[in-house]
Amino acid sequence: MPAPDYIVASKPDNIGKKVKGTLWLKVNAKTPEIEKIRTAANVIKNGGLVAFPTETVYGLGADALNPEAIAKIFEAKERPPDNPIIVHIADKQDVYKLAREVQKNAEKLIRRFWPGPLTLILKRSSLVPDITVVGLDTIAIRMPSNKVALALINESGSPIAAPSANLAGKPSPTEAQHVINDLAGRIDIVLDAGPTKIGVESTVIDMTTPIPKILRPGGISYEKLKSVIGSVELHPIAVAEKKMRLTKVPSPGMKHRHYAPEAEMSLIEGEPDKVVRRIQELAALHMAKGRKVGILATDESQSSYEADVVKSLGSRNDTETIAKNLFRLLREFDREKVDVIIAEGVTRRGLGLAVMNRLRRAANFNILKV
Ligand code: TXA
Ligand code: MG
Repeated sequence: MPAPDYIVASKPDNIGKKVKGTLWLKVNAKTPEIEKIRTAANVIKNGGLVAFPTETVYGLGADALNPEAIAKIFEAKERPPDNPIIVHIADKQDVYKLAREVQKNAEKLIRRFWPGPLTLILKRSSLVPDITVVGLDTIAIRMPSNKVALALINESGSPIAAPSANLAGKPSPTEAQHVINDLAGRIDIVLDAGPTKIGVESTVIDMTTPIPKILRPGGISYEKLKSVIGSVELHPIAVAEKKMRLTKVPSPGMKHRHYAPEAEMSLIEGEPDKVVRRIQELAALHMAKGRKVGILATDESQSSYEADVVKSLGSRNDTETIAKNLFRLLREFDREKVDVIIAEGVTRRGLGLAVMNRLRRAANFNILKV
């Protein structure tokens, strides 16, 4: 039997629900209640785990300087031990404490995009323990813009290491409920400030190479980065259409299975009319075999499909809305227990590049071009 939910009412302004021992605490997104932030900050200071909202997805935070606390992140998420964790700061100046080299281009990006969904890979200082960066010579740093995230980092008095707050391999959480579904009973608190604004994770850019390289497309588009620093490369793994066999993977996390729903998923890419027709055919074939079919569509195509479950990401050219809905819809298909998900490919402009990167991985590179 699941553990009963009950109300913690010891302090009137600290009322939350407990789920399997994890405190689920609602926080005001615009003016976070300081008492609630302090409750969570005390958990961080004592080496515990706090899930918190950022503008991209919910993160699973621990004191970046406390090796035992970081070990708990790996355990709670079942994260592969070779996958380094992003360190979150609340003051731009802290980048100079965590990194030993911050070049001109990096400073330009910081000025333009922090606080915000951009993670910089820099040569690291010796401040963070090895386990946070899994022994690498580099460190991933970002300053989020979410007010709850900033307040938590400030009150904790230490940088906060935080991967996305999902079980390893699952879609990233864009709502506190997703965090609870994956991690209740494994973490101390989740601060709930409602759905996240962007919906895909930060862009990860390697600043240690002569030409900066995007390792993971995300919340800041390739076009925007290029407009600020001129030359930016997309690492092959960021735009891969197949599983890559790299002897030396630059971002170790990228070689693991990611964003995967329970259902078998395929992604159909190409000219919109052809994509719709192919999906109609595939859906009919699966349904004839008695399988429950889910289609991940767009507003323009939604009504063209007959399937058990049809969900729209948003309008075809509105990549911001598509990004915001993506992970939630993948989780909804799981809840509705579809056997198969067939997804439409989208444009790679703007946030579409990040969306396609996630869709291809979610489909385990089961891609059909039409
Ligand atoms: O938006 C985000 O970035 C969210 C929120 C919570 O901030 N965080 C997030 O963390 O997505 P995570 O752990 O799910 O993804 C971090 C990615 C992984 O692919 C990891 O391998 C890469 O960043 N990474 C971390 N440190 C790195 C390093 N030193 N060098 C190269 N890649 C690194
Ligand atoms: Mg993640």
